[in-house]
Amino acid sequence: MPSVRFRLNGAETEIDADPDRSLLDILRGQLGMTGPHFGCGAGECGACNVIVGDRAVASCDAPLWSVADKDVTTVEGLGNAERPHPLQRAFIAEQALQCGYCVPGILMSAAALLNQNPSPSSGEVKQALDRNLCRCGSYNRVVRAVLRAAEGSTP
Ligand code: FES
Ligand code: FES
Repeated sequence: MPSVRFRLNGAETEIDADPDRSLLDILRGQLGMTGPHFGCGAGECGACNVIVGDRAVASCDAPLWSVADKDVTTVEGLGNAERPHPLQRAFIAEQALQCGYCVPGILMSAAALLNQNPSPSSGEVKQALDRNLCRCGSYNRVVRAVLRAAEGSTP
């Protein structure tokens, strides 16, 4: 079985697996990263989004080989309960989640946006999250939360 190396949340990682398997499958299975969620499995909903390099990528639609030697960040690498990322604090402050299933993917899309554009407009946030679907319909709160995180106004 060929091995593929990449950095996962800053840690050098080597995995023996079919390089054509989806990154999502590898992350959730062999690597135990259950933050990225399986939604559509077809690159349409964003529930599985992770950051590869500096871009949000649908991990269900990315083969393992495509991340060789790259940096992959999942929501586990964004923040945690002890040290939440400003986006996570803002999502809580705005109550921008209901069931929460879509949120890890949305957080990664939003983090990629703020890394590239720390002061986005509302329109730019909506555009960046255009491919993230939320069945609970929390869209307005999500946009407010991302803008709030950008402003740095959450204690
Ligand atoms: S599960 Fe990957 S985009 Fe929907
Ligand atoms: S909060 Fe339920 S799918 Fe988005």
